[in-house]
Amino acid sequence: MITFDTENLFSYIDKDDFQRKLPVGIDALDSLLKREGAGSEMLGWLDLPDAPESEISNIIDTGKRIQDENDCLVVVGIGGSYLGARAAIEALPADAAFPVYFAGNNLSPGYHERLLSKLDGKRFSVCVISKSGTTTEPAIAFRLLKRKLVEKYGAGGIRNRIIAVTDPHSGALRRMAAENGWRTFAIPGNVGGRFSILSPVGLLPCAAAGIPVAGLLSGAASGMDTYKRKDETNIAVRYALMRWLLHEKGTAIEVLSTFHPELALFCEWWKQLAGESEGKEGKGLFPASTVMTTDLHSLGQLLQEGARDILETFLISAVPLRDMTVPAEESDLDNLNYLAGRSLGKINQKAFEGTRAAHISGGLPVITLQIPSITPDAVGNLFVFFELVVAVTGRLTGVNPFDQPGVEEYKSRMFKLLGKPGA
Ligand code: PA5
Repeated sequence: MITFDTENLFSYIDKDDFQRKLPVGIDALDSLLKREGAGSEMLGWLDLPDAPESEISNIIDTGKRIQDENDCLVVVGIGGSYLGARAAIEALPADAAFPVYFAGNNLSPGYHERLLSKLDGKRFSVCVISKSGTTTEPAIAFRLLKRKLVEKYGAGGIRNRIIAVTDPHSGALRRMAAENGWRTFAIPGNVGGRFSILSPVGLLPCAAAGIPVAGLLSGAASGMDTYKRKDETNIAVRYALMRWLLHEKGTAIEVLSTFHPELALFCEWWKQLAGESEGKEGKGLFPASTVMTTDLHSLGQLLQEGARDILETFLISAVPLRDMTVPAEESDLDNLNYLAGRSLGKINQKAFEGTRAAHISGGLPVITLQIPSITPDAVGNLFVFFELVVAVTGRLTGVNPFDQPGVEEYKSRMFKLLGKPGA
């Protein structure tokens, strides 16, 4: 499903060293699959596409019910509790045009004011997603949205308009759901937020948005089969090893560059996955992203001629789902008729090829990941590919990829500033 092209990589890392270390990469994968090593209690995501048929049907049916009973859905969550769903919804064409809005991923009054006014006069439900059930940003947004629901439906009318996705047994949100009789879905205890896209965290918002969940799951399942293989051709292991070796030699940043704006949020999901998993103990490539050709006119200069501590990984779709041609114009004052009648998808492809060649000549190590098309299958496949790459990289660099102790620092300082009791 993913074509992996390592271009000029062996000008930057030693090929013999890479070959010698491949067994170390395979061992890293093996330790994950054997559920060994740091964070091994959080490896439930390795089994996720195997959810029981009944749970998947329940998610799909709930998604349809949400569509039938509402004009839109608001999904409340932050970090791993929203990025995967948002990535899939932005990337994929939906079967039904049903708007899904996101809240609880920032503390901006302006953002929430605009969102709340969009809901005026609309029938809406709220899907609140939080594993801990105590994260400040979604908790505040949820209060605002509950108040809006009560204004519209009355205190007695909101029970069926709230769905909680949270820990199966504990936490504030689980308790609130039980007390108020809200519908719930469980996030498996052994699955962390940023690895939860294939759980109800990602699948329920996708189902409500009309994204074909079955396609996502089948792409993910075939991805798991492929990228769990313990052999030296496994591209997840090869890519992880290349990232590690480059990082050891001083590469500080990995830029995921796409030529498909619909994958912009997918890049955001990847940034969280890689950053929160690998960025600890003074280690970790800083994950950045660009959306081309837009960013060629902002960051292209730096990529071409700036500091040479960047790995650029292109994420490309071979064929657009829909294409169009450039119109001819009689006057040709803009000198564009040489492109008239040509496919925009192919022009975009040439822009990618030109950019890649330019960045190679500018001295960047470059990897290309190409999927056939941006379909549910391919996106499901990409999710598990990157999950495995990041987990294997974490094992190689020696960190625990499944915790995030550093995230607490801003919270405790913020809580002190806000005067939270006990902070
Ligand atoms: O990957 C993670 O674990 C985090 O990004 C969490 O998903 C994020 O902090 C939200 O946490 P919660 O779901 O508990 O509200």
